[in-house]
Amino acid sequence: MMSDELAVAVDWLGLDTAHHLHPFTDHKALHEGHVRLITHGEGVFLLDAAGHKILDGMAGLWCVAAGYSRPELVDAAAAQMTKLPYYNTFFKTTTQPVVALSQRLAKLTPPGLNHAFFACSGSEAVDTALRMARVFWQTKGRPEKKIIIGREYGYHGSTTLGAAAGGMVDMHRQAAELPNFVHVLPPYWYGYGGQMSEAEFGLYAARQLEDKIKSLGAGNIAAFIGEPLQGAGGVIIPPATYWPEVARICREHDILLIADEVICGFGRTGAMFGSDTFGITPDLMTLAKALTSGYLPLSAVMVGDRVADVLINDTGEFYHGFTYSGHPVACAVALANLDIIEGEALAPRAAQMGQILRDRLHAALDDHPMVGEIRGVGLIGAIELVADKRTRRFFDPRGRTGMICRDYCFENNLVMRAVRDTMVFSPPLIISEAEIDMLVSRCTRAIEQTYARVQHLVTA
Ligand SMILES: Cc1ncc(COP(=O)(O)O)c(C=O)c1O
Repeated sequence: MMSDELAVAVDWLGLDTAHHLHPFTDHKALHEGHVRLITHGEGVFLLDAAGHKILDGMAGLWCVAAGYSRPELVDAAAAQMTKLPYYNTFFKTTTQPVVALSQRLAKLTPPGLNHAFFACSGSEAVDTALRMARVFWQTKGRPEKKIIIGREYGYHGSTTLGAAAGGMVDMHRQAAELPNFVHVLPPYWYGYGGQMSEAEFGLYAARQLEDKIKSLGAGNIAAFIGEPLQGAGGVIIPPATYWPEVARICREHDILLIADEVICGFGRTGAMFGSDTFGITPDLMTLAKALTSGYLPLSAVMVGDRVADVLINDTGEFYHGFTYSGHPVACAVALANLDIIEGEALAPRAAQMGQILRDRLHAALDDHPMVGEIRGVGLIGAIELVADKRTRRFFDPRGRTGMICRDYCFENNLVMRAVRDTMVFSPPLIISEAEIDMLVSRCTRAIEQTYARVQHLVTA
């Protein structure tokens, strides 16, 4: 094992530049700037090699729900590693953690989702769900039902199927544009709502889906996939009218509904699932991230009875799976993590602490000339930085102000993410009130510093 003293002696950052390709990164730009070496995690904080203690307002990548440094999770991994570090579930074999977790997820998820299929990442779960949807229709003698409908700014991962289902055009351009994937308007009221009320816009956005279905023909469409709220697209929270209307449309047109709960799952929105918060009854549900609080890679697709019955009884072999599907150590960590999430009531806690966080952000920033909207549900939210808050005019070019603000956040020892010019946050669900105050004051300072740089672009 590498000691901390030795870690200091090694030129980690030089070696990183020499040998490591980072995900979602412009490497040339990265090499012109600098990389931080994160060495430890404690509660809601990260520690870096330069001695900074950074409040992680993003819970890693939306995943570290239970916080860093939880001995329960380490112990669960060690115990399972000692007993059985790995075995697969391909050869008419199973393991105790995978069975126990399947049963637990069937109980925890909304009624009707009674079977779990495991993978390692959110992307793989999405890939699996999309293939299941198409295989479902093939098995039912409807192979022409294969179009997948996603949404602009949707994010469903970075496998080719996941990226194609997502609505990030830059990803599509880089070899992730596939036939039979289409995208509709997201329920992004702040960006697209115009003069409509939020309730009107929710129905309007949902009906864009219905128009698309009518133009393509429901007989050609396998599924609609959506995050209960769109996380990586900028924490786009749908108006209350949106999901019930989407559900009606999917039902009436006989299209499977896939809820991508990779971010929302396990308490983030103040209920156990985003589907509970928004009243969604999905046919398939993808889970990852907070399933293990990010301690080990694990994801799952929860399969509704309608699809499971066909897959189990009629499909024959489903030609899909991964070496690490149902990895016993990851499943054991997930079980211990669910003990924490349920035992510490982290979902209702997220509802309560999220309200406190939003109240304090409103008090600090509502009057700021560059803050157009503060929104959130549970412990996930966003602050829209805009050029003109009265007309909801965005900066041009978009994204530059957000990046400046993100850098200032880091300078103030706070991790927040910029999506275009929308600052998003999703701290660990264990965050305390004192840490919320710290988050708000560091974020406010970063916004003030950003404003000092871009004030000339803002209509006050
Ligand atoms: C909603 C959603 N789906 C899928 C994914 C992909 O998950 P992963 O990065 O684990 O492949 C993400 C990642 O952020 C996500 O937010």
